[in-house]
Amino acid sequence: MRNMKILVTGGAGFIGSHLVDAYIGAGHDVAIVDDLSTGKRANLNPKAAFFELSLLDDKLKDVFAEVRPTIVNHHAAQASVRRSVDDPAGDANVNIIGSLKLLEQARSAAVRKFVFASTGGAIYGEQDYFPADEAHPKRPVSPYGAAKASVETYLGFYAAEYNLNYTALRYANVYGPRQDPFGEAGVVAIFSQQMVSGGQAIINGDGRQTRDFTYVGDIVAANLAATASDFIGAANIGTGVETSVLALFGLIKAAAGADLEPRFGPANPGEQERSVLNAGLAGEKLGWRPRTALTDGLRATVDFFRAAAGDGGPVD
Ligand SMILES: NC(=O)c1ccc[n+]([C@@H]2O[C@H](COP(=O)([O-])OP(=O)(O)OC[C@H]3O[C@@H](n4cnc5c(N)ncnc54)[C@H](O)[C@@H]3O)[C@@H](O)[C@H]2O)c1
Repeated sequence: MRNMKILVTGGAGFIGSHLVDAYIGAGHDVAIVDDLSTGKRANLNPKAAFFELSLLDDKLKDVFAEVRPTIVNHHAAQASVRRSVDDPAGDANVNIIGSLKLLEQARSAAVRKFVFASTGGAIYGEQDYFPADEAHPKRPVSPYGAAKASVETYLGFYAAEYNLNYTALRYANVYGPRQDPFGEAGVVAIFSQQMVSGGQAIINGDGRQTRDFTYVGDIVAANLAATASDFIGAANIGTGVETSVLALFGLIKAAAGADLEPRFGPANPGEQERSVLNAGLAGEKLGWRPRTALTDGLRATVDFFRAAAGDGGPVD
């Protein structure tokens, strides 16, 4: 890829900030739009231009005029499933209307590629078969999942009407350094933080619920592949490996060298039981496959939280 002008929304957030680092590392010019609602200034790459702005702000037009991006990578979102249940209209405002405002700018600017952070966990709902491929029925059971499905539908419209070249990446459960350990999502971050700080980790329910934990470095690689590809459509990004929350607890405990027994709390109402993705299409269309073993990704994550806790990093 030659040097390109790339606009990353959500570039102060967990996944978006890793993505900005990778684009800059590959020699691209990057501009970030982020309202810092959950993103952090500390995550901002100093080599990126930063516009502290909501997607909903009319000044988004001025950003496009100034940056003239050829690529738009859309990671800004209200990313909490629980918050979407508490405030469906607020979620739709950011995740649907905000996305449409961005899409309108992207098509007016005739961008070469639009990459969208979608979800494979929340879009399929409780799965009929395992792992789910892209043909699995979409039955989102949260406003968050419904909004992501809706934006994918709009993307189809923009491709048909305006020839917008887009790829929607349906992520499994993403984990890694910089994930918020104090939110409701991100069980890896929550457990890692608790284990390095000697807190008590609570498992919601019996811990037998499963997820497809995918390392953020692999997610970034999928984005780089999508940026360079002509593939128009949606592709799952996951490992195909199902891990129970209880097994995850044991793996993080080993990575952290912690001596902690889990405590069990009430199950989250409406929580999905099993979620795992088949990413064969991403292999075929994007040349992408997951490369990071769960134990390696967890070690990197625990090391990050240990360093953040200020005890000088890993001891071994
Ligand atoms: N973390 C996961 O497991 C996962 C799984 C599937 C999809 N995703 C998607 O990936 C993307 C990034 O998620 P994340 O986990 O890094 O979350 P995050 O909360 O760390 O990042 C979201 C970023 O968007 C910004 N933002 C929110 N509303 C905005 C608005 N109106 N205008 C401008 N910026 C706004 C936030 O400040 C934040 O920096 C989201 O679209 C999310 O839905 C994440």
